Amino acid sequence: MYYLGLISFALAFVTALGGLVVAALSLARREKQLPGLAVRLTQVSFGLHTLSIVAMLILQALEDFTVSYVNSVINPAMSPILRITALWGGQAGSLFFWSWIIALCFFLAVSGRRGLMDAWAYVVAAVNLLFFIGLPLFLENPFARVWELVDGTLAEGVFAPAAGAVIYRGLTGVGLNPLLRHPGMIIHPPILYMGFGLFLIPFAVGVSQLIRRQNDDDLLDKTHAWLIAAWVLLSAGIVLGSWWSYDVLGWGGYWAWDPVETASLLPWLTSTGLLHSLLLQRKRGIFRRFNLVLVLASYLLVIFSIFITRAGVLSSVHAFSESLISRPLIVFTILMVVFSIALLVRSWKSLGSGWELNSLISREALFLYTNVLLLGLTVVCLWGLVYPLTSGTLGGQQITLDRGFYDRSTLPLFILLVVLMGICPLIGWSTASLKRLKKTWWIPVAIALAGVGAFYLAGIRAWSALVMFFIVFLGLAVQLFLTARDANAVGPAKFFKFWWKQRGRYGAFLVHAGILLIALGIAGTEVMGSAIEGTLIPGDRMPLGRYEIELNAASANYDNPEYMNVVIETTLYRDGEKIADLKPGQHIYMDRNQSITIPAVHSTLRGDVYALVLGFNMDMPYATIKLIDNPLVNWMWIGGFCLVLGGILAGTARRPDRETDEDETAADSKVISYAQAAGRRENGD
Ligand code: HEM
Repeated sequence: MYYLGLISFALAFVTALGGLVVAALSLARREKQLPGLAVRLTQVSFGLHTLSIVAMLILQALEDFTVSYVNSVINPAMSPILRITALWGGQAGSLFFWSWIIALCFFLAVSGRRGLMDAWAYVVAAVNLLFFIGLPLFLENPFARVWELVDGTLAEGVFAPAAGAVIYRGLTGVGLNPLLRHPGMIIHPPILYMGFGLFLIPFAVGVSQLIRRQNDDDLLDKTHAWLIAAWVLLSAGIVLGSWWSYDVLGWGGYWAWDPVETASLLPWLTSTGLLHSLLLQRKRGIFRRFNLVLVLASYLLVIFSIFITRAGVLSSVHAFSESLISRPLIVFTILMVVFSIALLVRSWKSLGSGWELNSLISREALFLYTNVLLLGLTVVCLWGLVYPLTSGTLGGQQITLDRGFYDRSTLPLFILLVVLMGICPLIGWSTASLKRLKKTWWIPVAIALAGVGAFYLAGIRAWSALVMFFIVFLGLAVQLFLTARDANAVGPAKFFKFWWKQRGRYGAFLVHAGILLIALGIAGTEVMGSAIEGTLIPGDRMPLGRYEIELNAASANYDNPEYMNVVIETTLYRDGEKIADLKPGQHIYMDRNQSITIPAVHSTLRGDVYALVLGFNMDMPYATIKLIDNPLVNWMWIGGFCLVLGGILAGTARRPDRETDEDETAADSKVISYAQAAGRRENGD
């Protein structure tokens, strides 16, 4: 199995190289078509790569601790599911897995719709694939074994590092970092990686278009599905990562502006802008140049993100220690950036669409503002990551920008984005929606005021939270209102069919509603949240607003051979009434000298009351407990779900439906009859 894995991995590289050579030769011969042989070599390379992944999984399942990577991430106590997730739980494995994801995306691109990849696009994607297979193959090989040298010391390597070295069989398995033993770990990295990887294909097609100096809508038609799929997966990956951080890192927060979190946001921000300006390219033929820049930037930021995570240059909970791959990664990132900029500069003039901003409140203008805000957020996040790198290089000491920097600089931009999102459905492609709202604009405003009033009556007095709630409720109310009017116009029986036909628009509604709900959760936790910590003995109570927590007992067991399981039994009260038994605890891994906080949460739509054990003494007994009130936090997860679901809906919409204003309206005659019917009703006809 070991040799099957190692050899198929090496052959995956060789066949991918073969594909690159074949495509390059066909370009040298000025042939237009991508040679079938190159396609077949990519498919074979992917098959071999998959075989090597399967072999590694089997080695993990069989506990082959002679393989250094297996020894570092597996131990006999780990469950089968954790043994699978261990594939991406360490440096070498995650690089190996990432190279497979890139291979999968390339495989899908060459095997799917014909004509997506021409020879240039193929060459660009193949160079990236080779680089990302080469890193684990030559520098951090997951198949490296542990060898015992003649002097008794241990060394790692694919081949025997010295004469007389023998494979060492005395290791028993360290096991996966306990922080990574969480359900979020099962799906968060693969989904995030897949989202990252899919950006390669639009990038390759975009670069090919620039090389061939082709200035048409080809890029848009060919790559939209890839972009929206990448965006959906990236959104899902980020939301899952945030939930994982909330649930496992034991600090009660969901976003820490950790370098890796921030880096994953970068391509998400640029691709969100891209999806909007692509809509305008389709409708008005504008923003072509801008879209090409964003297509290239999104993938370049993916590589940058991989660099931040894998090179270990910034300290982060996710990053692995500084490794052999950091230099090649930075050189490759710089080369790709320089290459992309050079191509853009060469074609800059010919890409212009001659568009000018005619009105400050048109749909085009709103999209422009949206993109300016998204790019502003991108620049802030990029600066937050680049500054410590440059300060480390120039000044010797790495200065990390703290959470305050991000909060101060991103919050105003995010609030403006949410405001824009609230009003965007009012500025329709056609003016019909505005006209429709003329006489009934007060309904969403009244709903929003009622929502804010309810919060006020519930005791919320922080004006910043109330303003944010108004913006969020207004945005949600406008969307609900427009949907209800659609339903009213087409009739309840036909509404589902209508909704499905217009799923591009309703998908976008849902995405925007998701962002609004996330904003609600952020406002709730940031403005209304509170926390307290204290040391309690059994019988003691600690108050937090309307809540109180009482410590009942403390116990420890060794049910799991890997760690001591500390359980602190508590009771949670609200207004003096018992509402839940909470059992926060800690898992103490003696061998690793590591402890993991296990929070206990009382979760409702109103929010979470989150209890953590910061310290304990079993003999006394006493425990230091932190109680956190996180109002509205669960709306963030609901919002995240809407975001992803809406993205999937929008992604499945037929694009020609949006070709022009006329087409869009004509796409469903019900819209016209609805508008007419609404008009007639309003005029009393
Ligand atoms: C972080 C904020 C935002 C996110 C994540 C987001 C996401 C999305 C997504 C995924 C789509 C679907 C794209 C497609 O089908 O290709 C979309 C469409 C759209 N977005 Fe946004 N958006 C955001 C902010 C905004 C803002 C501020 C505006 C206001 C101008 C806006 C206006 C629109 C419009 C008008 C559509 C097209 C709806 C249709 O097809 O009828 N978005 N948005």
